[in-house]
Amino acid sequence: MQTHVQVNEFHPFTNYDFSNFYFGSGDDPFDIIHTYNRWWEKAYKGGYHIYREPFTSGPGTTVSIRTNMGKDHHDLLNLSSYNYLGMAGSPVVKEAAIKALEKYGLGASGGPNLSGMFDIHRELEAAIAAFKQKEACTTFNSGYAANIGIISGIMRSGDTIFLDQFSHASIIDGAILSKAKTVFFRHNNAADLERKIAGVGGRKLVVVEGVYSMDGDYCNLPEILEVAKKHGARTMIDEAHSAFVCGENGRGVVEHFGLEDEVDIHMGTFSKALGGIGGYVCCDEGLIQYLEAFARSRFFSCTLPPAVSAGVLASLRHIEAHPELRWQLWKNVAYLQKRLREEGVDIGNSVSQVMPVMVYEDASVFGIAQELRENGIFLQPVTYPAVSKGKARLRLSVSAAHTTEQLEYAAQTISSILKK
Ligand SMILES: Cc1ncc(COP(=O)(O)O)c(C=O)c1O
Repeated sequence: MQTHVQVNEFHPFTNYDFSNFYFGSGDDPFDIIHTYNRWWEKAYKGGYHIYREPFTSGPGTTVSIRTNMGKDHHDLLNLSSYNYLGMAGSPVVKEAAIKALEKYGLGASGGPNLSGMFDIHRELEAAIAAFKQKEACTTFNSGYAANIGIISGIMRSGDTIFLDQFSHASIIDGAILSKAKTVFFRHNNAADLERKIAGVGGRKLVVVEGVYSMDGDYCNLPEILEVAKKHGARTMIDEAHSAFVCGENGRGVVEHFGLEDEVDIHMGTFSKALGGIGGYVCCDEGLIQYLEAFARSRFFSCTLPPAVSAGVLASLRHIEAHPELRWQLWKNVAYLQKRLREEGVDIGNSVSQVMPVMVYEDASVFGIAQELRENGIFLQPVTYPAVSKGKARLRLSVSAAHTTEQLEYAAQTISSILKK
């Protein structure tokens, strides 16, 4: 017999989500916090406990975790880390980071413009600029900091920023911080951008992502660029998930489309394919000079730890010398996508290493993730606000380091649990 949710029954995933806790009533700003805390206690026990659980190993193709419910899981097949080329735990990266740690110590102890810039940072920036075949590069202490710094560094009140509706939070936050007007266009829809940009005067910036972080599809770059250029807008691409993996030489979705010289601002992060942390922007020398003065998230924040910069540089050098890592990643992507689709698993329009395993209902996605764990797979659920309501999914990442046996096990286990 089917069970129904009673009117007064508390059901954390269908009655409430994070959107209920942005605004409180009354004069005390803490009122909403207590209300949220009461909800969270129940939601946590009802399934959200699956978040914020500590790893007790590195983010390799297998991972060990200590659950918030007090259980240790060892050697789960890891399908959730961004370690696309397997570089996070690579011996060459560790060796470079350890050497730099011994030489420089732990932190940079200063912002980049005063006392936090080290030779290793400049070396890393030069290497990234050379790899991306751009005039210059500057770095930030995260990809998030890069996006907010770049966008708010050049756009001002009275300007207009056009964003894809699926833009990452860091792009949206950069636009908010800039105080420019923000206009969203439908995902990858150049015709909708055209409708919205036509007739808008003043300074304009169109921002897109190379590979969309929750859907794994490529940006419709050729058509979007055509519209942006026609209307005199500057363009920026966030290649967080596509730099170092897409394009013949790994230069990103811009290389894939042969449009490297057509985009004005190229942003990316070190936290995905390079297995480290940090953000970068590549473009003309003049714009880099300006951003080093006006990107406040860079100017007013401590520089990346030198040891991280050394590790990221070693990671870049290694992937440049070993293109076969990229080739292996694309073989793995093709294999898993084919097997999942054969098994009838809905992975949307993904064409990359980022694959959404669509579940749609928040109420089911936590139980599915839990069951996957019981069957040896770490694959995290994603719900609102990371994706729209009613678009809950398991966000799957493939790595070059995964074996065919691991991918086959993933395809069979995911499909059999979803069928249940
Ligand atoms: C598209 C996109 N841009 C920027 C970021 C932020 O990068 P980071 O995690 O390196 O701060 C992310 C992170 O997932 C992302 O998906």
